[in-house]
Amino acid sequence: MNFQFFVLVMFVVVASPYQCVRLKHIRPSFNVLDYGAVGNGKNDETRAFVDAWKDTCIAMHESSTLLIPKGKTFMLQPVWFQGPCNSSNIYVKLEGTIIAPKNIEAWKWPNDNYKGSWIRFIEISGLIVYGGGIIDGKGAQWWDCHSNIKCEKENPTALHFHACENLILRELTHINSPRNHISLNACHGSHISKLHIIAPNESPNTDGIDIAESSNIIIENSKIETGDDCIAINHGSNSIYINGIFCGPGHGISVGSLGRNGVHESVENTYVRNCTFNRTTNGARIKTWIGGNGYARKVTFEDIILIEADNPVIIDQEYNPYDSAYAVKVSDVTFRNIRGTSIAKHAIQLHCDEDITCTNIILEGINITSSIGEEVHASCKNVNGVCTSCIPYVPCLSLE
Ligand SMILES: *[C@@H]1O[C@H](CO)[C@@H](O)[C@H](O)[C@H]1NC(C)=O
Ligand SMILES: *[C@@H]1O[C@H](CO)[C@@H](O)[C@H](O)[C@H]1NC(C)=O
Ligand SMILES: *[C@@H]1O[C@H](CO)[C@@H](O)[C@H](O)[C@H]1NC(C)=O
Ligand SMILES: *[C@@H]1O[C@H](CO)[C@@H](O)[C@H](O)[C@H]1NC(C)=O
Repeated sequence: MNFQFFVLVMFVVVASPYQCVRLKHIRPSFNVLDYGAVGNGKNDETRAFVDAWKDTCIAMHESSTLLIPKGKTFMLQPVWFQGPCNSSNIYVKLEGTIIAPKNIEAWKWPNDNYKGSWIRFIEISGLIVYGGGIIDGKGAQWWDCHSNIKCEKENPTALHFHACENLILRELTHINSPRNHISLNACHGSHISKLHIIAPNESPNTDGIDIAESSNIIIENSKIETGDDCIAINHGSNSIYINGIFCGPGHGISVGSLGRNGVHESVENTYVRNCTFNRTTNGARIKTWIGGNGYARKVTFEDIILIEADNPVIIDQEYNPYDSAYAVKVSDVTFRNIRGTSIAKHAIQLHCDEDITCTNIILEGINITSSIGEEVHASCKNVNGVCTSCIPYVPCLSLE
């Protein structure tokens, strides 16, 4: 064999396993700029994003990336990023800024199915949205829309995830959604972290994160400043773990409302820990509607710091004057190590239905004092449970 041929053979022999390994780990990247997006904050870039998404989604690799580059602002109309995709991991690397149309008249709905959300990810497994970028829902006009006939019936959610598996969402700033900022529906296994959600105190229905029909969700190390619930854990949620959330302004972290309009709704296995509520209108809350049924059970709020919070500890199983055979059952709820100040005199409210009652409600290591030098107190109706070391004293629980 001549020398050149020998070198070639050796190269192939030595290099090919290496090449194989390399190829497997190449993560093709689809930059929206290569699909006609400009990033001037004015053009409608929806088409470019959808085209780049299609290539990202059909790429036959272990993973592929949709890249939204830094230093550019992209205006998007209501859009769906539809799965399932071929790669087992789909990265959406958002380094730049995405903005909504600047006023309500400028929103264009491809059809009525798109109403209700701005950016929607559907049926994607292994989706990873990250990159330090910004999502701006331009919500201000929508907020004072109540009396404006030009408005849609329902303001849209900014970022909606439907039917996702193993979603990772991290390192994003999300501001001024027309309605709730992020909603997870039918998602199983999600890890959400390092988000900063910001909307004004007085913006209506701008929940930070809403969860429904979902399981095994972790939300942690995020700051949520908004006009409604920082996090709302709604019907069909199971195994929800929330850690290290700084909430405020906002309405706190709540389970429910459940059972509105008489329906059956349930939440189970929810653990909220290591959170701060700063000047929130509620703190740790469980709320159910009259006439509904189902349950909220195995819910723990632990290691919570309150700063001038209003209604910091609240279970509200609304009294049903008409038919008390129906109410959402609340049981096995623990509030442990909840400390700080309340602006309300009513620091603890446990209000349950006379017939259904709330059972096994445990309060432990509670120390809530007034931020305005008043006496704070607890009130309760139809609750059964135990209080260990509670300031203020909770009259209807047994002491241990
Ligand atoms: C890749 O995705 C496309 C579009 O979803 C689909 O038509 C195709 O069958 C997929 N290929 C494989 C090998 O799964
Ligand atoms: C508590 O939350 C903070 C973020 O607010 C986080 O940095 C810290 O690691 C959390 N502590 C524990 C024990 O998880
Ligand atoms: C609580 O919120 C107020 C403004 O609403 C802010 O001035 C203050 O710094 C916040 N406290 C903490 C500990 O971040
Ligand atoms: C409760 O909190 C107040 C104010 O921080 C503090 O002065 C008091 O010692 C605390 N009581 C207990 C029993 O921890």
